[in-house]
Amino acid sequence: MPVRPATEEAIAAAAQALAKGDLVAFPTETVYGLGANALDAHAVARVFAAKERPRFNPLIVHVANLEAAETYGVFDATAHKLAEAFWPGPLSLVLPLRPGCGIADLVTAGLGTIALRVPNHTVAQALLADAKLPLAAPSANRSGRISPTSASHVEAELGGMPAMILDGGPCKHGLESTVAGVAGGEPILLRLGSVPREAIEAVLGHAIASAEEDAAISSPGQLERHYAPETPLRLGATDLRPGEALLAFGPNAPQGASASINLSPAGNLEEAAAQLFAALRELDAAGASRIAVMPIPAHELGEAINDRLQRAAKAR
Ligand code: TXA
Ligand code: MG
Repeated sequence: MPVRPATEEAIAAAAQALAKGDLVAFPTETVYGLGANALDAHAVARVFAAKERPRFNPLIVHVANLEAAETYGVFDATAHKLAEAFWPGPLSLVLPLRPGCGIADLVTAGLGTIALRVPNHTVAQALLADAKLPLAAPSANRSGRISPTSASHVEAELGGMPAMILDGGPCKHGLESTVAGVAGGEPILLRLGSVPREAIEAVLGHAIASAEEDAAISSPGQLERHYAPETPLRLGATDLRPGEALLAFGPNAPQGASASINLSPAGNLEEAAAQLFAALRELDAAGASRIAVMPIPAHELGEAINDRLQRAAKAR
């Protein structure tokens, strides 16, 4: 079985597997990643094959700290400011790629930029320290499906594809990292995620623009069919219709659904974000004809939660 508790021995074995070009799934504070040595084109190619992911979609490179990140990306003053404020943590920065730095072309999809992130998770950090390699790691799900927030989700998605799945328990944030582009000019929000827009704007001292959804684009990930359960969703639901399962939020959930999960009875957005993907998986497996989703406020982490729900609803 590829799932192993993330002990020191397992992490050391995982680092060795990565060094010889194998894939290792590992926990981060956002979601589980499917990691490969970002310097090894063959290893990276296997990530795309395992995920059945379109080749043009570039991957995030995980490194131990800012110093390591500067080996691969070119930081300007704004990038430094954001890295200092949010690293280690769930912000990925898209920066100009440092020429000749050795990152496989497949990782960056030939864009001339690189997405870098310093994860804030003891297992991810221990793995980076042991492997001494930059790790390209997309979310460890098959392309177009919900990101995994536990080792068992990864196993359900990818089975024996990774050489090992390091089990570090459920992910704290449960939503992917926020992706910000800082490749010259004004920074731009390329993907909503675990760092709320408001927190970034507080550090920058001004508003940050979002990437146009259909611009042909510096963030191809925006276009991917994403976060899709098999069961259709009905968003903004304040009542229940026959045959529906319920994804509730807050204290006023309608009663009587055959399957029902409340993301946060207290109406806490952080708690809701952490539960979201596991709840969608569970309700998707409940055999309902549709999942009714209660309205979720659009501020702070609610913006990213609504983004994921809208993609999931559209994907059908
Ligand atoms: O939380 C996360 O970010 C997780 C964990 C495992 O760290 N990783 C993750 O990776 O969500 P992935 O591959 O599923 O999403 C990568 C996103 C995509 O939207 C992709 O288009 C964007 O980052 N991206 C990567 N490199 C880029 C680049 N050079 N320019 C623009 N966007 C880029
Ligand atoms: Mg993903």
